[in-house]
Amino acid sequence: MSEVQNFKVTIDNITVEVAPGTTILNAARAIGGEVAPPAMCYYSKLKDSGGKCRTCLVEVSKGSEKDPRPMPKLVASCRTTVMDGMEVKNITSEKVLDARKGIVEMLLINHPLDCPVCDQAGECDLQNLSYEHGSEKTRYEFKRRTFEKEDIGPYIQLHMTRCIMCFRCVYTADQLTDKREHGILDRGDHAQISTLLGKSLDHDFIGNVIDVCPVGALTDKTFRFKNRVWFAKPVDAHRDCPTCKGKVRLWMRGEEVFRVTARKDEWGEVEDFICNDCRFHKKETKDWVIEGPSVVDRRSVIAQGHYQGKVGMVKEQPRLIDQVIGKAPKLLMDIHSISDVNRPDVDLSQIEGPAHSDDFE
Ligand code: SF4
Ligand code: FES
Repeated sequence: MSEVQNFKVTIDNITVEVAPGTTILNAARAIGGEVAPPAMCYYSKLKDSGGKCRTCLVEVSKGSEKDPRPMPKLVASCRTTVMDGMEVKNITSEKVLDARKGIVEMLLINHPLDCPVCDQAGECDLQNLSYEHGSEKTRYEFKRRTFEKEDIGPYIQLHMTRCIMCFRCVYTADQLTDKREHGILDRGDHAQISTLLGKSLDHDFIGNVIDVCPVGALTDKTFRFKNRVWFAKPVDAHRDCPTCKGKVRLWMRGEEVFRVTARKDEWGEVEDFICNDCRFHKKETKDWVIEGPSVVDRRSVIAQGHYQGKVGMVKEQPRLIDQVIGKAPKLLMDIHSISDVNRPDVDLSQIEGPAHSDDFE
C-alpha cells in the first residue's frame, strides 16, 4: 500500500507538515499560539461546523507548489483545505487584521454591551476577540435587535440578543441528542434560535450547548448571577457516571461548588461532553474525586490570582511571538503616550525586584 504523502504548508513564516485534507485552521493549530486564527463558529468536535462567522479569514499568498498564484480573496481557514507548498498569512497580513476588525464590528452590531451583567464575561470569545481586534467605537446608529423573552427550560437561559448565529448549539443538539427541539427560525436579520413550539430543552446531554456557545446567549440557570468566573477557582474532578465519562471542571469558592462544566482544551473546545446530571445536579464536593487545580491559559482573566498545576511548579514562560513570526506583537496601547508617570528610558523589566520610587527619582 503506498503511503500518503504529507503536504507542506507555511503559515506566518512557519512551515508544518500535515495530512492532505487538513484545513488551514487545523494546520495553524498544529503550529499553535497566535498563528492559529480565532474561530467563533468552527468546533472540531461538531461535524459540519464552521463557515458562518468569518473570524478565521486568512490570506493565501501562494496557492500551491504546482499553481503558485495567490488566492484573489481572503478565505475562511476553517473551510479551506491546504495544498502542498501553500503559503498563508494570518497575523502577518495587514489585510487579514483589517478584515477581522470589520468582522468584529459586524458581530457587535446587534450584540448588547452588557458584559458587566453577563455570566459569560471573562470567558467570552467575542469579548476576547473584540479586545484583540475590535475598535473602541461603533459606527452603527440604528436600534439593536430585540426579541421576546423565551423560556427554554429549567436549566438553560437564552439571551437571544447576544447570539451571533454560529449554529454550534444546533449542531450540538443534533449530534449529541436524539431529538433536537431547537433550531434557527426565520432568515437574515430576523433569524433567531428558538424552540419553535416553546418546548424545553431537556435531553440528558443538552447542557453542552452552554459550553459550546461562544458568547453569553446560552448560560447555566443554576449558576446565573451567583459568581464571577474569575473569582471562582477551577478544579479538575471526576466521578463514576453511568451516562458520561464524568470528567469535569468544578468552579469553586472555598468548599462550595458554584458551577460544573466540561473541561476545555487550549482552543476553548470541550474535551469530553458531559451529561446534565453531572452538570446540574452534582454541586457538592462529596459528589466528586478532586484531581487538582485546572491548568488555565496564562492570558485568561481566570488565571489571575490562581496558581497553575502544583504549588511550586515552574510557571510556563511567555512565548516570544516576535521571534516566531519575525515581527513585534501589536501593542494595544503604549503607556508613555498617555502617561508621564513612567519615563520611557526606564525599562521596568530590567529593574531587579519591584520598581521603587528611587528608580524614577
Ligand atoms: S445561541 Fe450561542 S451557540 Fe447557539 S447559535 Fe447563538 S451564539 Fe451560537
Ligand atoms: S470559524 Fe471559520 S467561519 Fe467561523
